[in-house]
Amino acid sequence: MKDAAPQPVFLSDYTPFGYLVEDVHLTFRLDPQATRVISRIRFRPNPDTTDRGFFLHGEQLRLVTARIDGATITPRITERGLTCDVPDAPFTFQAEVEIAPAANTALEGLYLSNGMYCTQCEAEGFRKITFYPDRPDVMSVFTVRIEGSEPVKLSNGNPTAQGDGWAEWHDPWPKPAYLFALVAGDLVAHADRFTTASGRDVALNIWVRPDDQGKCAFGMEALKRAMLWDEKAYGREYDLDIFNIVAVDDFNMGAMENKGLNIFNSSCVLASPDTSTDANYERIEAIIAHEYFHNWTGNRITCRDWFQLCLKEGLTVFRDAQFTSDIRSAPVKRISDVIALRARQFREDNGPLAHPVRPSSFVEINNFYTATVYEKGAELVGMLKTLVGDDAYAAALDTYFDRHDGQAVTIEDWLKVFEDVTGRDLSQFKRWYTDAGTPRLRVSDAWQDGTYTLTFRQMTPPTPGQPDKAPRVIPIAVGLLNPNGDEVLPTTLLEMTEAEQSFAFPGLATKPVPSILRGFSAPVILERATDNSERAFLLAHDTDPFNKWEAGRALGRDMLMRMALTGGDADAAYLDALRAVLRDDSLDPAFRALALRPPAQDDIAQALHDAGHTPDPQAIYQAADRLGQQMAGHMADLLQGLYQAMAVPGPYSPDAEAAGKRDLQGLVLSLLTRRDGGQTARAQFAAADNMTQQLTALSCLMARQLGQQESQAFHDQWRHDRLVMDKWFALTVAHARPEDAAAGAAELAAHPDFNIRNPNRFRAVFGALAGHAAGFHHASGQGYATLADWLIRLDPINPQTTARMCAAFETWRRYDSARQAHARAALQRILATDTLSRDTTEMVSRILD
Ligand code: PHE
Ligand code: ZN
Repeated sequence: MKDAAPQPVFLSDYTPFGYLVEDVHLTFRLDPQATRVISRIRFRPNPDTTDRGFFLHGEQLRLVTARIDGATITPRITERGLTCDVPDAPFTFQAEVEIAPAANTALEGLYLSNGMYCTQCEAEGFRKITFYPDRPDVMSVFTVRIEGSEPVKLSNGNPTAQGDGWAEWHDPWPKPAYLFALVAGDLVAHADRFTTASGRDVALNIWVRPDDQGKCAFGMEALKRAMLWDEKAYGREYDLDIFNIVAVDDFNMGAMENKGLNIFNSSCVLASPDTSTDANYERIEAIIAHEYFHNWTGNRITCRDWFQLCLKEGLTVFRDAQFTSDIRSAPVKRISDVIALRARQFREDNGPLAHPVRPSSFVEINNFYTATVYEKGAELVGMLKTLVGDDAYAAALDTYFDRHDGQAVTIEDWLKVFEDVTGRDLSQFKRWYTDAGTPRLRVSDAWQDGTYTLTFRQMTPPTPGQPDKAPRVIPIAVGLLNPNGDEVLPTTLLEMTEAEQSFAFPGLATKPVPSILRGFSAPVILERATDNSERAFLLAHDTDPFNKWEAGRALGRDMLMRMALTGGDADAAYLDALRAVLRDDSLDPAFRALALRPPAQDDIAQALHDAGHTPDPQAIYQAADRLGQQMAGHMADLLQGLYQAMAVPGPYSPDAEAAGKRDLQGLVLSLLTRRDGGQTARAQFAAADNMTQQLTALSCLMARQLGQQESQAFHDQWRHDRLVMDKWFALTVAHARPEDAAAGAAELAAHPDFNIRNPNRFRAVFGALAGHAAGFHHASGQGYATLADWLIRLDPINPQTTARMCAAFETWRRYDSARQAHARAALQRILATDTLSRDTTEMVSRILD
């Protein structure tokens, strides 16, 4: 229901709850239409506060009875919760409520997915299950009894007893309600075991629908790798006798770290060579690790309030990135992460939805599970580590775990640990958490008498509610190269603290070429007037793999910008540089693929906008197409040979090396398809024994409008497999011509297998439309109008997914006035919808502001 004006919550208003929860007993009598939830909660006054207001959150609950210390009461109930008079001493609150899981399409609280009961409580979903102080600083021990005919009934912690039609679970670790979980259904387990460093024998299970049992092995191996890694890298062991993962088909996000019972979107855990791509495998491994790592960074130490979300998410993303770097290729992981950071977080930080890593107010917390909180939050942890050094970082993390285990804490607590361990003052660093916006770092240099000087100026543009920004501390990793390509200064850390600052490097024989911001040591936009010959030099000679890639990236970006503005061609020097990378067998194939893949069209639009132009999505689309055509021509003689050389013999394996070869082979195939009329791609499609090569071949054909038959064949082959069909839906939209994308998406929404209630399917179609830059921003306005139509339909069903997808519009002010008028009309139409959700109302209002 739409509130008249949704009221924001402020960080500065935080007060502790007046009561502590001693323990909680919950009984669930499962029924699709009328589940009974019977609660017994022991409260006692909180000695840390004198506030004795008693309020329990509760939404969409039908109260049957409520009692205090056994006596029936009649509480006051609003849309948001319950109040009543309570004793000024320990007391027991009991309630019986009724809820309707089958009617729960929002997928928050207790719901049904394909006949299976499951819960999603983060951030504020527990209040849709029963009356409770649903805030992360209220931690308690839960005992849960589940009654129902489902063969498998799971909750957090350890199983304690079970009988015919019931099961009981007890979680000994105090936790906030957002980590509660319950699952019940007709499930089978892929089971394994893990012995922790101190000898605890842990039962591991991945629970899936019977059809999916063959898709669990990889996830299980990933889990064991993650458990071992967290012991080795952070000294963190698992702390229960059982660890359960469940795959569900209907889920708003990727996965959820509920204590001892992680719940996963099935797309983020199920894997098989036939149905999953290399990219799927890598993502599944990372997400399994991420959720597992939350057991310490999130669960054992949790957030005091939702403003501190980055405390658990930034740190856990950083940890999962370290894990991936350790077990795969560190440079490839870093480069891929920076590509994603720029595409999602820089875009967010430079538009109307910009907000600090730690926001200071929100209307709906679900709208703050963002790239800024997660990915920029992880960058801040990385910068801290860079600034204090590896040993101090390790010591700080040990202190953090010792000091705060079992607590709900803040960013101040986190930074204090680093200050205590290192003696550093981190007050300037804290601005990274409190100030939104991506700093611009302007670089100039000077050369005199054997001294090379780099001068940096930092400036962060205004963001909503934050017009002026003070300078931040920026770790700038720098190396210097001789004109002959030798490194004369290995990577050195410069610590910038002023608005403008110079660093001198004396005693050099010749003017060096600088390699600045190595490893992307800070999430900033580097502005340096440089010529392409210097970039080509760094692409050829830089010893830092990130900056080697970055040099090529900058060349490609400038090339595409110029091509979009002038309608001209790529210059030969650029194509020569790419050619040199492509044929350099000393380079990792995965790295070559990253270096050869030009920036995304949306990145070019942002870059043009930053440079003072009004981007034309159609011109960018055509420039990207011309570049592809010219690359294919310039490298024509290499393509067949490379295509063969990158073939991976033997049965499919998703390991990083094989995946890297397939990635480069796929890139080569996309070029080859421009020259051979699709012959090689058709052969690959027909012969493929794994999804990576099948989908790559199909994608290459569809990109050239050559894949009609193969698309149909793929559809018919995989019609029974939800996750593969999501790929088909997404690919069909992604490869539509710009003028056809919106109509194509709307047409797919009429396909018998489209299901608006399934977020994966909705995102496959309409996420692909939003990601089709030239289609979504088509001059006709059809992209905007079509997405608006479908967001309006989705909102009453699933507000959370609707609101997240509104971010597609966040760049609307980059474009010309005709496009802006179309976008504004679409946004206003959404906002004018009757009973629009709070989630979507907040998002659209911020975007329009
Ligand atoms: N906490 C989850 C994660 O990062 C994400 C999530 C948020 C899932 C909200 C569901 C709902 O792993
Ligand atoms: Zn997380």
